[in-house]
Amino acid sequence: MIQVHQLTKRYARHEAVRGVNFSVEQGEIVGFLGPNGAGKTTTLRMLTGYLPPTSGTATIAGFDIFRQSIAARSKIGYMPENVPLYEDMRVREYLKFRGQLKGLGNNDTRRRVGEVIDICGLASVHRKMIKTLSKGYRQRVGLADALVHDPELLILDEPTNGLDPNQIRQIRELIRHLGQTHTVLISTHILSEVEMICNRVIIIDEGRIKAADTPSNLVGQMRAAGRIQVEIQAEIEVVTGALNRMANVKKITPEVIDDDWTRYTVWLDSGTDTREQIAQLCSQYGWPLRSLFRHTATLEDVFVELTRKD
Ligand SMILES: Nc1ncnc2c1ncn2[C@@H]1O[C@H](COP(=O)(O)OP(=O)(O)OP(=O)(O)O)[C@@H](O)[C@H]1O
Ligand SMILES: [Mg+2]
Repeated sequence: MIQVHQLTKRYARHEAVRGVNFSVEQGEIVGFLGPNGAGKTTTLRMLTGYLPPTSGTATIAGFDIFRQSIAARSKIGYMPENVPLYEDMRVREYLKFRGQLKGLGNNDTRRRVGEVIDICGLASVHRKMIKTLSKGYRQRVGLADALVHDPELLILDEPTNGLDPNQIRQIRELIRHLGQTHTVLISTHILSEVEMICNRVIIIDEGRIKAADTPSNLVGQMRAAGRIQVEIQAEIEVVTGALNRMANVKKITPEVIDDDWTRYTVWLDSGTDTREQIAQLCSQYGWPLRSLFRHTATLEDVFVELTRKD
């Protein structure tokens, strides 16, 4: 559905996107992640035809985004970072205007506006002026606008930005629902959201792709994936020595937490788990034990590891 080849954007002095390659297959819901300034919005604006690339190409459903811009754009529903809405229009009137602007005839416009009002939960506000709407409803209008010409592909730039937790949940459910019938490329900073709705994740940093895989593969490949934390009350050298002799243990980092208790982080070969052996060791030597758990890596760990600057 999306094919990106060596896409590059240079602003006056700054190369925001640097030879990016990726693809999105039909039916996928792909999370597009990266720190502030990574180049997400710049990439999405190029894909949607709003910004010409400095070099490189991209196609949407086989259509080149610049040489066949009209055909490519007709496949895309784009919700930009800051949805530009006409404040003095009423919701239904605005969506009708947008439908016509996107080339729908009168009958299609009427039908689709009714449908997207339904899909996006706008029935209770369709007669209101846009300027009187809450942020959450404005985002819904933005989404309805993106959907009005019935595109196959949705490109959403931080659709839940600035919403409260309830609204975030509602918009997320709406996107998940739309994902059943659309291909979705969504940029967001809410990683739990990505883990919930995306089949695949693309991480970009400083204009370059750092990773592209399923959330579970990314988490599984984490260097810090295998680690256990245990709190034991005994002499540090003795405990460290015993833990170090166990199979699959790569490294121990002890940290004194109060008078007698020490918290040990036990770094393991990936895919191994020594919690049982640690519990046995403690009972064998009679060491008091008050906490033992395995740290499971999250997408946040992956994100931090791939994009941190230190
Ligand atoms: N019109 C512009 N002119 C000059 N530089 C720009 C312009 N737009 C963006 N940039 C720069 O390009 C880089 C990438 O910006 P972009 O908006 O694509 O990042 P982003 O990943 O969307 O970040 P955020 O998470 O903050 O939305 C940044 O360094 C930004 O300052
Ligand atoms: Mg952005």
